[in-house]
Amino acid sequence: TGAPRPAKASFSFQEVAHGVDADHHVASGYNADILIRWGDPVVPGAPAFDPMNQTAEAQSKQFGYNNDFVGYAPLPLGSRSPDRALLCVNHEYTDEEVMFPGVGVEQQKDKFARMTKALVDIEMAAHGGTVVEIRKVRGKWVTVADSRYNRRITGETACAITGPAAGHALMKTSYDPTGTMVRGMLNNCSGGMTPWGTWLSAEENFNGYFWGKVEDTNPNAKVLKRYGFPGEWYNWGVHHDRFDIAKEPNESNRFGWIVEIDPYDPTSTPKKRTALGRFKHEACQIALGKDGTVVAYTGDDERFDYVYKFVAAKKFDPRNRAANMDILETGTLYVAKFKADASVEWLPLVHGQGPLTAEKGFPDQATVLINARLAADALGATKMDRPEDIEVNAVTGKVYVILTNNSRRKPEQVDATNPRAENNWGHIVEILPDNGNHAATKAEWTILVRGGNPADGTVGAQFHADTSANGWFSCPDNAAVDHRGRLWITTDQGENWKKASGTADGVWAVETEGNLRGLSKMFYRVPVGAEMCGPCFTTDDKTLFVAVQHPATDGVDQWEGFKGKLSSFEDPATRWPDFKPNMPPRPSVVAITKKDGGVIGL
Ligand code: FEO
Ligand code: CA
Ligand code: CA
Ligand code: CA
Repeated sequence: TGAPRPAKASFSFQEVAHGVDADHHVASGYNADILIRWGDPVVPGAPAFDPMNQTAEAQSKQFGYNNDFVGYAPLPLGSRSPDRALLCVNHEYTDEEVMFPGVGVEQQKDKFARMTKALVDIEMAAHGGTVVEIRKVRGKWVTVADSRYNRRITGETACAITGPAAGHALMKTSYDPTGTMVRGMLNNCSGGMTPWGTWLSAEENFNGYFWGKVEDTNPNAKVLKRYGFPGEWYNWGVHHDRFDIAKEPNESNRFGWIVEIDPYDPTSTPKKRTALGRFKHEACQIALGKDGTVVAYTGDDERFDYVYKFVAAKKFDPRNRAANMDILETGTLYVAKFKADASVEWLPLVHGQGPLTAEKGFPDQATVLINARLAADALGATKMDRPEDIEVNAVTGKVYVILTNNSRRKPEQVDATNPRAENNWGHIVEILPDNGNHAATKAEWTILVRGGNPADGTVGAQFHADTSANGWFSCPDNAAVDHRGRLWITTDQGENWKKASGTADGVWAVETEGNLRGLSKMFYRVPVGAEMCGPCFTTDDKTLFVAVQHPATDGVDQWEGFKGKLSSFEDPATRWPDFKPNMPPRPSVVAITKKDGGVIGL
């Protein structure tokens, strides 16, 4: 009839208030229980966590640091079990100053001097991922200590290099002359789960692990610069030659990929899927077409970088898991061009097409994929405000592209899709695929919300007018869509939290359809210095798992509750979640359930 649909809220919970303190907070009527913390035993036989006597050997069997992505793989395989599963968790990076006694000092240079090989090896063991069996027993989630599925993947675990770049000259190193096997996965931020029951883990800021001088005469200098090498966030290159670019020039080409892991086979080798391109992958989310077409969306989290999708050549077969296990080996990678007329054009990264020729520096498809950023530059893709998670709504067919912020966008650089200069608050772009066909090369786009305080006229925020003083957020990062098609957003404001919002990060529920579209409500809040990661629902939507990452680190000096300037192992801004005198803050996965046992948010 054309009459507006009546406003009916999808979410009925009492909001958490904006704020910052040492603890976490969830909406009233809900429990937020710690499921697993950094250092907790994972592999059967792992020792208990002893913060004063850490070793790489112990860490390689215990839950790693900085949990980010959380995935739910129901047990048994192929079921939709709401109370038994394998939890798949990424361990993105490490914070030495709050992990290790005696390391937290203000000068980065000094910190590196204190980072001995023994400590670096603990850090490498704290990276990667965890698979751990979990069960819901009398309404509470527990980990299963002796499960045969429990496993740790670390910065030293052998990973296969598969797809078009496997075995290429640019992938060969002194310790792997075949270019097909690399030690470890690094900076695995967010990810995704596939319809065939595998876990996609996204290697993000891999440049930060590399050390060493890049001479101007280095034939690869242009590529190394475009990827931010050497990042020198860590001093691993001092203790391990493979992280020194001057000593092992190709090792850097072997990180920055989507890694596919079969959590149901603890002996399986993780596979780096080179067909999906090499860049700072934030996440990887699959859209499944009715005919079995598989499309993987993935963003490159850098200021002015791009949104990509991969269209697999093979279709998903629900009756034949083995036939699905290598779907991500072959297909076409595209990069997005967002146009002012509200259309999206997907541009193929295919050797020989357009500017991607040998004369222009792309002699083969492997080089196009290894240097995907340069290929996308050549194609004229749209430079975005840091693409973080991309979430597919299986109920509505829409795709949410989370753009976290871009303080460096100048007024002359704004465009329709990235409309604010000095964007400290981020926004969410919605892609509407053509006729619901995710594989199509055309789509439409629109903006769902623009972060920041709607009450501050200088910010240019955009939320539904009924959004409360606690309902708006800044710097969206990860997202989850529950099985009712409702969108949940988590934030990562970093050092910028005070300026961006003044509240700690958290979880917000956002209306996406009908008259209340853009109405947002705060559901959960992290302790000071943390970021909110990994929102993940069980198959019955009665549990929401969230990952509290790096408590007591980001911007703690701006919190009046902390008298110090920089958190350290000895004097952290919070000792969440244990609050025990000699226990450092610990990144943890939290299970949120409703006290009446009902569906989250209803
Ligand atoms: Fe690791 Fe883009 O966040
Ligand atoms: Ca993170
Ligand atoms: Ca992130
Ligand atoms: Ca982030």
